[in-house]
Amino acid sequence: MKKFAGFILLCLLVISCSTSGQPNATSVSDSSLRERICINDDWLFYKYPADSLADKLIYDSRPSISDRRDDRVADSRPTEAIRNESLQDVLKPWILPTGNRFIKDPSQRHIRPQGDPGSDFPFVSNSFDDSGWEMTDLPHDWAIKGPFLEGPDAIVGGGMGRLPINGVAWYRKKLDIPASDKGRSVSLEVDGAMSYAIVWINGHLAGGWPYGYNSWRLDLTPYIIPGGDNQLAIRIDNPANSARWYPGAGIYRNVWLVKTGPVHVAQWGTFITSSDISKEAATINIEITTDNDSRNDAAIEIRTEIFSLDRDFKRTNDPDASFSPITTSIEAGCSSTISASVILKNPQLWRPLPAEHPELYEAVTTLFCDGKPADTYSTLFGIRSIVFDPDKGLIVNGEHIPIKGVNQHHDLGALGAAFNLRAAERQLEMLKEMGCNAIRTSHNPPAPELLDLTDRMGFLVIDEIFDVWERRKTPHDFHLVFPDWYEQDTRAFVRRDRNHPSVILWSYGNEVGEQYTGEDGAAIAKRLSEIVREEDPSRLTTASLNYAKPGMEMPEVLDVISLNYQGEGIRDAEAYSHLKGIRTSPLYKNFHDSYPEKVILSSETASALSTRGTYIFPVTKEISAPAEEKTGGDQKRMYVSAYELYTSQFGASPDKVFAAQDRHPFVAGEFVWSGWDYIGEPTPYYSARSSYCGIIDLAGFRKDRFYIYQSRWRPELPAVHILPHWNWPDRIGQVTPVHVFTSGDEAELFLNYKSLGRKKKGQFEYRLRWDDVKYEPGELRAIAYKDGKKWAEGRVNTTDRPALLKAETDRYNIKADGKDLVFITINITDKKGRRVPDSDNLIRFSVEGPGVIAATDNGDPSDMTEFQSLQRKAFGGMALVILRSEGREKGTIILKAESEGLKEALIRISCE
Ligand code: GAL
Repeated sequence: MKKFAGFILLCLLVISCSTSGQPNATSVSDSSLRERICINDDWLFYKYPADSLADKLIYDSRPSISDRRDDRVADSRPTEAIRNESLQDVLKPWILPTGNRFIKDPSQRHIRPQGDPGSDFPFVSNSFDDSGWEMTDLPHDWAIKGPFLEGPDAIVGGGMGRLPINGVAWYRKKLDIPASDKGRSVSLEVDGAMSYAIVWINGHLAGGWPYGYNSWRLDLTPYIIPGGDNQLAIRIDNPANSARWYPGAGIYRNVWLVKTGPVHVAQWGTFITSSDISKEAATINIEITTDNDSRNDAAIEIRTEIFSLDRDFKRTNDPDASFSPITTSIEAGCSSTISASVILKNPQLWRPLPAEHPELYEAVTTLFCDGKPADTYSTLFGIRSIVFDPDKGLIVNGEHIPIKGVNQHHDLGALGAAFNLRAAERQLEMLKEMGCNAIRTSHNPPAPELLDLTDRMGFLVIDEIFDVWERRKTPHDFHLVFPDWYEQDTRAFVRRDRNHPSVILWSYGNEVGEQYTGEDGAAIAKRLSEIVREEDPSRLTTASLNYAKPGMEMPEVLDVISLNYQGEGIRDAEAYSHLKGIRTSPLYKNFHDSYPEKVILSSETASALSTRGTYIFPVTKEISAPAEEKTGGDQKRMYVSAYELYTSQFGASPDKVFAAQDRHPFVAGEFVWSGWDYIGEPTPYYSARSSYCGIIDLAGFRKDRFYIYQSRWRPELPAVHILPHWNWPDRIGQVTPVHVFTSGDEAELFLNYKSLGRKKKGQFEYRLRWDDVKYEPGELRAIAYKDGKKWAEGRVNTTDRPALLKAETDRYNIKADGKDLVFITINITDKKGRRVPDSDNLIRFSVEGPGVIAATDNGDPSDMTEFQSLQRKAFGGMALVILRSEGREKGTIILKAESEGLKEALIRISCE
């Protein structure tokens, strides 16, 4: 039995009156506890055909587009917004009140106008016959099935991934609200809908939320009929030209129905921090906001107990600490916030990677109303201390942790934007294997479950909300919404995520155009940082700078200086001297000297580009060069050389970044652009579909770059990696450079058992290169040394012709829940089982048993084969099949891969 160690330290009470409009016509008599029901299954979906006009139920009108170019360099200067007056009736005035709860100043809150727009539109009516609509489960991304839109005039170009994200669509579902729900508060929680969601329930407009990346809640109570027919209808409007990358389309995250008593813990109504952390004890501070949606005042008692979680993240039996009960009363239609503290003995700390199993706790809050339990609410949290030290960097629990981070977009490759827990976990697992310990959620709030994963796996997170403020990067991006919604979006974002121990820093902007507008821009930064601080005084805030310099207004506002590319210098080497655009010398020192009290980190580095397994000759002698025709690039095939020396125009190779970081040890670390390839932004070839900057390709196959990061980030792991592959029948006798990435400090290279010399890494060198090797088929072997002793050995062989297909799986057992996934790699090998790196045979896939092929891919950014296709060419000798369990049926799933002239592969997966 654990002992109760807690005692109350402090209790504060703040009462505020309803922010969400009229109190509901319910009384406090019903004290049913909370239910949070996932309502992802069985929706009906309709999208207006591309060539037809949609209904007029729009949130707001949008300016006409004069320039649809989407192949601009990512660091182009954002331009001034174009505003237009609405020429038609729009629903914005009815949607704005949805965000009232997140507007602090009551005088700024929105009053719903008279009328009920859309109530006569057939799609919102309970009796509308939707039997002809498509059945779908959520999370749903309508665009991912394609087809890819090709050609220069495609309505969605390469920037947004050439997938049909654009248009208006509707989702309908009957809600199960039994008569026994009478008197309860019922709300809809949407974790993310892309974008401009507007919700009708039983024919009434209930509200909506424009920003596609935020989570939001709508109170349905005034409109539902307990025991009756309850029809939900959600309209989504997703404009083309609204992003610099693939946003996905539709209700792409989980959706919930939350039922509580009328007196209940508010949405994201708890906030837990810890202070005075030592081995012996920590102070746990909690704030709890309670809503009284009823017509009567309520006398409540609030109790909270803290439980540690076990190895499986399950709550242990006995509480580790309990807050003393607090009693208070809340007027009808009002909210109240209490604060309290407790001392927890022997706290188990949340620790970042590489520590295994970060410790987590669960606070269970119970509300009692008139003596009866009225609500229970659970909050997961972790105990850790974070200090940003301007000279040392990040200190977690007293220990210096260099940030080895990557930027991650929200899409899940061939699965699109539709959130899937296993797919997200797989991305993080591979990053962890590389030695990565941090993620920046570029440039938007992630699915809530991603932060559950980072908490459990020990990743540090910069949680970021915006890519634009008032100035625009694309004609219909978030700048259209920002003036009306920045406060609501920012408060909602912080309130949702502030209990996650993995979140170490809030970012309220990325490379915004306001860096160029002096005091005006800085004033917006200041306002955003104040909002974040009000919602969470426990963490620092930042925004990423690719243009603003020391002494300009914007950096003054930031708690932490987050530099994109400026630390190592932008277009700052000989190979970049002919390029136009921002040019910056290495600025770490300048920022450090100008802001000696602020931590500096690189929120984006590298933006190195490559296509897995593709090597283009000749190879630059530089350590970093822009990818251009003949130097690293091949426009016709839309490939960039994987020598991992080529970059976007403003980027730098990993080697150049590492050197800059090592020369400036006060820098807290880096977030590489990017961890995985993502859909859209296919710099430098905008006719392609997906990016080139990932360390891991879109299918989840490691590029050579993976190993240069692994050798730096996991120096204790004996490893050596050789590039390129050694199948060059047309290059016999020609110079074919060989580069080696190793965690050792020197290596000897052998070609067909002949030594080509032993080389040692110099100071600020991170690869060993033999640039004059003349190709002859056979075997390359590298023996790496560390401190003079043999450390690791690797080899690459010229293979024979393709002969077999070989299947490899990430797991042999999956859950029979209709969601779990297995990722199967099909390799084309020669008869000795060695992958043939230059093979591209067409492979056909089929499946038997309780599974479906959710998607296929090969990581080739120029492959326009639909992601759902059951046949696909291998790329670099590899293809990926993603299998999903089908419904709840158990059994064995058998995947077969066949290709003409090759021995087929079969793999069995057990679905339990
Ligand atoms: C940065 C930008 C990122 C991405 C990257 C591509 O300037 O912040 O969102 O566009 O460039 O290399």
